[in-house]
Amino acid sequence: MSKRVFSGIQPTGSIHVGNYLGAIRNWVQLQDEYECLFCMVDYHAITVNYDPDGLEQRVLDATATNIAAGLDPDKAIIFLQSLVPEHTELTWLLTCITSIGALERMTQFKDKAARQQQIFAGLMNYPILMAADILLYKAEFVPVGDDQLQHLELARELARRFNGTFEDYFPEPKPLLTSGARIMGLNDPTAKMSKSIEGSYIALAEEDDSIRQKIRRAVTDPGPQGGEMGPGVRNLFTLLEGFADESIVEQFRRDYADQKLRYSDLKSVLADAIVEGLTPIREKRAELLAKPEDLKEILYDGSKKARKIAKVTMEEVRDIMGFRLPIK
Ligand code: TRP
Repeated sequence: MSKRVFSGIQPTGSIHVGNYLGAIRNWVQLQDEYECLFCMVDYHAITVNYDPDGLEQRVLDATATNIAAGLDPDKAIIFLQSLVPEHTELTWLLTCITSIGALERMTQFKDKAARQQQIFAGLMNYPILMAADILLYKAEFVPVGDDQLQHLELARELARRFNGTFEDYFPEPKPLLTSGARIMGLNDPTAKMSKSIEGSYIALAEEDDSIRQKIRRAVTDPGPQGGEMGPGVRNLFTLLEGFADESIVEQFRRDYADQKLRYSDLKSVLADAIVEGLTPIREKRAELLAKPEDLKEILYDGSKKARKIAKVTMEEVRDIMGFRLPIK
């Protein structure tokens, strides 16, 4: 059997070219090499203030966008976390072997908690749910960005703690550090591209005019400075590498080295390349969203497959932890 890969996808906000070049494109390739599970993590999405009436639409939107960008329900299991109740069940069991100190040390928790008036336990326990996501399927690899490495380390620690306390059962999931590009904000190339900062990102569903406008306005620098490329221009080159042919990228690199590069030319070619790359994704996404029942069917179907695996794990874990009366 091929090795199993698990990743969680937050159903929040606009999915942008940073997510696409940094993560989704890699997942698309992984589908051919591994048994992949891609989970829409709606339970993670409620750890901060959210609108219950918009949740379903956000799930469908994230599902449609990821499928339009190349995730394939015929190759991977694409499913919804809240349709597989074993995720919450395992979370509780793992919660009982997690030290509060480890949770309080999570940098993402510290950052998010600093912005909340009232800090709910769900925000702190978020990484336990993430560990349950992964361990439920005994996933071998987890493709993660560096912002999630600390959470993955906790999942590894919980696997070890479980194995040491009860019996050797969970494999330790390993990070799959893929070669995804790190895309910076267009308006501030010193910070990562972010869906919560207008002007920073280009959504995968962005209209052509808006793409061109955002690229036109993207921060560059006053000009080549002693061969040192500024962060804004470097970011535009990274985007160009993601969307244009290598020959075009090389031509612009030569122009830059020869101090002949005009940023307006770079921007116009880049905008064309992004428009060309995103148009089919935007169209496919719209097609998928026009048939919400079909999208739900994809999620139900994937969740059924996921649950089959999850149920076996939960039965074994319950037994190992001493819950010997099986659920009838
Ligand atoms: N926390 C991850 C993020 O914000 C999403 C996620 C939830 C996840 N469960 C996961 C990622 C399991 C990898 C594996 O991006």
